[in-house]
Amino acid sequence: MKQADRMALALLGMLVVIYAPGTTHAEEQKQLAQAGHKVVKENATKGAEEPKVTIEQAIHNALESVPGRVHELEVVHKSGKLAWQVEVITPEGRHFIVYVDGATGAVTHTEEKTIEKLAGDPTKGKVVFEKHCTSCHGPDGKGTGPLGQSLTPPAADYTSESSRQKSDAELFHAIQEGRPGTAMRSFRKLGLSKQEIRDVLAYVRVLSRGQDK
Ligand code: HEC
Repeated sequence: MKQADRMALALLGMLVVIYAPGTTHAEEQKQLAQAGHKVVKENATKGAEEPKVTIEQAIHNALESVPGRVHELEVVHKSGKLAWQVEVITPEGRHFIVYVDGATGAVTHTEEKTIEKLAGDPTKGKVVFEKHCTSCHGPDGKGTGPLGQSLTPPAADYTSESSRQKSDAELFHAIQEGRPGTAMRSFRKLGLSKQEIRDVLAYVRVLSRGQDK
């Protein structure tokens, strides 16, 4: 099974259907049974508001537009119409929000999600960096820590062209979730808060500017 399919199945398993007020329980049950897997957004105003397009179709169309894996999805109102809002993470770790029209299945809009509107403090980030990151990335962020060069792949050099070109969202994601198959672990799982990750990213950006800061 492809990863995206597994994700979709896992999501289906997790989805909670919230009963909309105003319809009887039996009626609701019947509708749900007929409709198959559906998510009704918690704050949907009227009952029985469900897109015609199934969750499987929505996922399929969203991934055709932006290849990757589905991270989250929900039903939303977009310009007065019902739409599936599908969050996709690309293999490079970029997050996109893809809107799929609930009636036609067409992808109407795609936007890249940037990291939360948190401001990063590089001074606080430096403290986090020196505690958790220098063993691999080195104090200058060039990947020259005691462990950094012996790793396969080696620890990233923030001053490299490829690192500098990456978006904040992408690097945030690398720190937050890690890079599977590499020594870069998930610092969310290791206990850093979003704010700490944001701060350390701000410091990573200072280091990435190297001498010419
Ligand atoms: C055990 C070694 C290790 C530690 C500790 C470590 N990293 Fe990494 N890091 C890596 C490796 C290896 C890569 C390269 C992964 C790859 O090639 O995809 C990496 C990649 C990254 C990237 C992506 C850079 C890019 O250009 O894509 C960022 C950002 C990053 N690390 C930040 C951090 C921060 C911040 C910390 C501390 C909170 C940290 N790392 C701790 C090994 C480490």
